[in-house]
Amino acid sequence: MNMKQKATAAFLSCLIAVSGASSLVNAADSEPETEPILVTGFEDKDVSKFSKRGDDDTSVIEASTEKPHSGDYCMAVTGRSEGWNGPSVSLAALGCEAGVPYVATAWVKAAWYNECKLSMQYTDADGEDHYVNLTKATSQGEWVQIPQAKFTFSEEWKNVQIYIEANDKAELYVDDFQLSTAPVYPIEQDIPGLKDVYGDYFKIGGAVTASELSNKSCQELVLKHYNSLTLGNELKPENMLDAKATREYYKESGDNTTPKVKLNGDAKYILNFCRDHNIPVRGHVLVWYSQTPRWFFTEDYTQDGDLVDKATMTNRMENYIKGVFEVLAEQYPDVDFYAWDVVNEALEDGGQPRAKGSYEEGNGSSAWVAIYGDNSFIEPAFKFARQYAPEGCKLYYNDYNEYMKVDAMLKLALDLKEKGYLDGLGLQSHLNVTNNATSEAFPTVGMYANALDQFCKSGLDIQITELDATYDHTVKDGEKLQADYYDGIMAAIAKHKDQISACVFWGTTDDQSWRGDRTPLLFDGKFKAKPAYYSITDGIEYTVTTGTTRQEIGQTTSKTTATETTASTGASTPGSSAGKGYDIAGDVNQDGNVTVSDAILLARIVAEDTSASVTDKGREMAELDGETGLTVDDLTALLKQLVGIK
Ligand code: GLA
Repeated sequence: MNMKQKATAAFLSCLIAVSGASSLVNAADSEPETEPILVTGFEDKDVSKFSKRGDDDTSVIEASTEKPHSGDYCMAVTGRSEGWNGPSVSLAALGCEAGVPYVATAWVKAAWYNECKLSMQYTDADGEDHYVNLTKATSQGEWVQIPQAKFTFSEEWKNVQIYIEANDKAELYVDDFQLSTAPVYPIEQDIPGLKDVYGDYFKIGGAVTASELSNKSCQELVLKHYNSLTLGNELKPENMLDAKATREYYKESGDNTTPKVKLNGDAKYILNFCRDHNIPVRGHVLVWYSQTPRWFFTEDYTQDGDLVDKATMTNRMENYIKGVFEVLAEQYPDVDFYAWDVVNEALEDGGQPRAKGSYEEGNGSSAWVAIYGDNSFIEPAFKFARQYAPEGCKLYYNDYNEYMKVDAMLKLALDLKEKGYLDGLGLQSHLNVTNNATSEAFPTVGMYANALDQFCKSGLDIQITELDATYDHTVKDGEKLQADYYDGIMAAIAKHKDQISACVFWGTTDDQSWRGDRTPLLFDGKFKAKPAYYSITDGIEYTVTTGTTRQEIGQTTSKTTATETTASTGASTPGSSAGKGYDIAGDVNQDGNVTVSDAILLARIVAEDTSASVTDKGREMAELDGETGLTVDDLTALLKQLVGIK
């Protein structure tokens, strides 16, 4: 047994002896368990858990001996009349529960060059159906494994199904299908919250989608670290526009300038969470070339119709913006929409407008430009946003590659600021620690910092709106490079804390990120803080505001009495802090309370876990056995204190 194993064993035996709390074993030490839900290679010829999608009479699902991937049988779906007519399993029928993370994978074989997707279907609280692709693999007529997908579903969703689809309707074979619960990883409660560390600087936030947030660990991560949320997709035009109601209203009234707006069940799921936990929201986004359907721009609201003229579109834009703010004010009067991205990504890198076209063309072309001929739709968008946004809500022009279009963005924004329509600029900040070809960063920290200096000199309010920094996993010491890069980027941002009012990450954990294969965030898929997290939190003195009432996930907010204390995350290496903190015996993690989290942290210290982060004050408060040095005896004393044994 090495030192770590000995200390852990000692921890476990005294934990069990003192408190009988054997359920903590997983949290402290071993890999969380998973439970198989449906794992089959079809060797028993049972395909009854799978049903057909679509209402054709021709497709058949059956066990087959057609060259299985393993064993003697696989499952065949033949006679399909659409690519999406694949085998589907109902999660409710399998006893799956909302909020629980699951993983699924399967081997598939389809006709030559078929993209085979593992997708999810559900009906939201408003009865609207959603179809989400989770993972995919291309079969070239041979067996291929669809990579494991991780997903969670919310309690408000009905008829949740996982299904397999392909591009064409040729026969589809499936083998070695696996659906299990995903391991549940608790978040690390014993590290400082980002929102506390940067509390004196700016808001710290993240983007989330409804599915991501339905995972309880994700909720805990958000509550611990973020004091701003951005809805990843749910407030974008494609989700806010109610096609059916818009077309019906047009048919009844002949008025083709008043698109109807609604919040779908997913938007409400996130907004309820923000309301219940008092989390301010960054609205994203009103006017954008992408994720805005072409029918919004056509004369009769049909997908392929002729585009309307400028005057009609301006009326339509006004009513859309008005509708968005109205629906939010009506349904979420208590949510603080402190910022909105009014226009997103209207400038090419050279500062010119996008090409004329539409979102559906998939080439970055814009229906706004197709109608207005240029970027002259931006000013009315801001004018209307100012007119209808609630008081105090700041309005931003948001864009990517901002370090390459500083002049164009400043020119646009300063003019609109002068007219009283705009408050600031949103810098997306999708960055690269390395790119594929070399280990060079793009942008370099220096390039980003220079651009930031210029943006901040303008006097405009600046928000970092979608921060993530990817690296190529073939590069040596990638995680370390990423940590150093984040350190430089955050130092550049923090330097301008008087001009920067929010810093928002695009996501929570790497596995849920849109750039997940290049792990761009501060937390990994196990909710563990990465070196990048430590690089931006170490060495910052901060003030913690703690409530006297503990708020549990799922409960509504209760008013809390705030107490303030100054803490420090220490010098450049985690665990070497020399800060002030709480003078509470046993408060190892310095969160103002003595709980089992302190015992877990102390166990990690005793086990010489070098990633355990503790301040000097925390170490001092862990000295409980009267002897200098942290040992199993201190841990036993802490456990006794926790369960009230003298
Ligand atoms: C852009 C958009 C965001 C989001 C990301 C990718 O940056 O502004 O809304 O779609 O791309 O997820």
